[in-house]
Amino acid sequence: MLHCLLTKYKGIVMLNITIKDQNNCVTPEELTRAMRDAEPVLKRAQAGEEKYADSQGWLDLDKWAGEDTISRIETIAAEVKANSDAFVLIGVGGSNNAARSVVKALADGSGVEIIYAGNTLSPHALNKMLQSLEGKDYTIDCIAKNFETLEPGSSFRILREAMAKKYSPEEAAKRTICTGTFGSSLEKLCEEEGYTFVPFPTDIGGRYSAFSYVGLLPMAVAGIDIRALVQGGKDIAAQLHETGSEDNLALKYAALRNLYYQKGYKLEMLASFEPQFSWFFKWWVQLFGESEGKDGKGIFPVAGEFSEELHAVGQYLQDGAPLMFETFLDVKEQQSSLVIHNDGKKDYFNYLDGKDFFEINKAAFSATVTAHSQKMPCVIMELDKIDAYHFGQLFYFFQFACYLSCEIMGVDPFNQPGVEAYKGWMFKALGK
Ligand code: PA5
Repeated sequence: MLHCLLTKYKGIVMLNITIKDQNNCVTPEELTRAMRDAEPVLKRAQAGEEKYADSQGWLDLDKWAGEDTISRIETIAAEVKANSDAFVLIGVGGSNNAARSVVKALADGSGVEIIYAGNTLSPHALNKMLQSLEGKDYTIDCIAKNFETLEPGSSFRILREAMAKKYSPEEAAKRTICTGTFGSSLEKLCEEEGYTFVPFPTDIGGRYSAFSYVGLLPMAVAGIDIRALVQGGKDIAAQLHETGSEDNLALKYAALRNLYYQKGYKLEMLASFEPQFSWFFKWWVQLFGESEGKDGKGIFPVAGEFSEELHAVGQYLQDGAPLMFETFLDVKEQQSSLVIHNDGKKDYFNYLDGKDFFEINKAAFSATVTAHSQKMPCVIMELDKIDAYHFGQLFYFFQFACYLSCEIMGVDPFNQPGVEAYKGWMFKALGK
């Protein structure tokens, strides 16, 4: 069975979704009914909900990713490019995942090297990070919404110490940026020490903060076209906010994954044959894991980097317990070409002679979907290409869909009581 959903909106090509479900786990009628039932959820999301007023600043991209913000980010990024070989992004979870996913996928050396800190407590990893800065001029950006999280707070300490050894107090201050909330102790520290302060939106939680200083500043420093990224978000936002329940792509995805969940598919694997998505998967896992996994509910999000992991979890997917459905990210455009030439020798691989890896990779993809869809539902999300614009579409699409999915499931999309609980125990263990 195959449903084709959404292709174009006002002439702009959007994500395409195709569902391959050989076993009819969800019929088209069930999906239509579920979407109709979820119409009130969509309407509330499109209108903005009073009860989530302190978490929905991301819905309107002009609020935290408007022209003023973008211009200031470009100014700061130009200064960093002029005086730094490296930029240390200190942040964890929602404070680093969006920027890292784009930088790892798209940075082409035209910007500054991004080094990650604030995401580990391992002394080995932290020492390696410090060693990677040796001989380089650098700027640091401490990104922390409430500035209580142990990982970024402790990394900020050691980086301030490292800077104090390398630079004069004035120069160190010039090279220190903090992305924090207004009124926080981080803002106070900036005032006292003369650091540059940029706002972490008060009405956006970390995992929804891609379109703000949190995500955009490190991306811009790395040379990413943040204007294109924001435009991608805006274009898909217009579609998701203006389309009703019958054709709303995010609602379809949200309703579908809830139907699978109700039928016993408790895990979703986001998979792709493009390793450029490896770090995006981490962002997606956090978004859905932290938003949905609460009150004893939630689809457990996992990532599949194919084709490599077909040689690891492929056996389980094909033949193990039927717990999972798969969502594939497929890219239409051929961005690169590499042909296998016949070298006149006979080996097992002569059937590949003259074939391009693009074609080989696509063949592996469609063979995998054919094989897996006999066992579990497979959803294919097709995007035109991998660039900043399409990353913008993906961020906004998944944020909106995640919010709808949580609402359908009956959990709060924006809190993370479990994370707070772990932080509390950690503080206790460290005698805070
Ligand atoms: O999405 C979230 O809210 C969390 O993952 C946070 O981003 C993460 O815990 C880091 O928090 P903070 O920025 O306050 O250090």
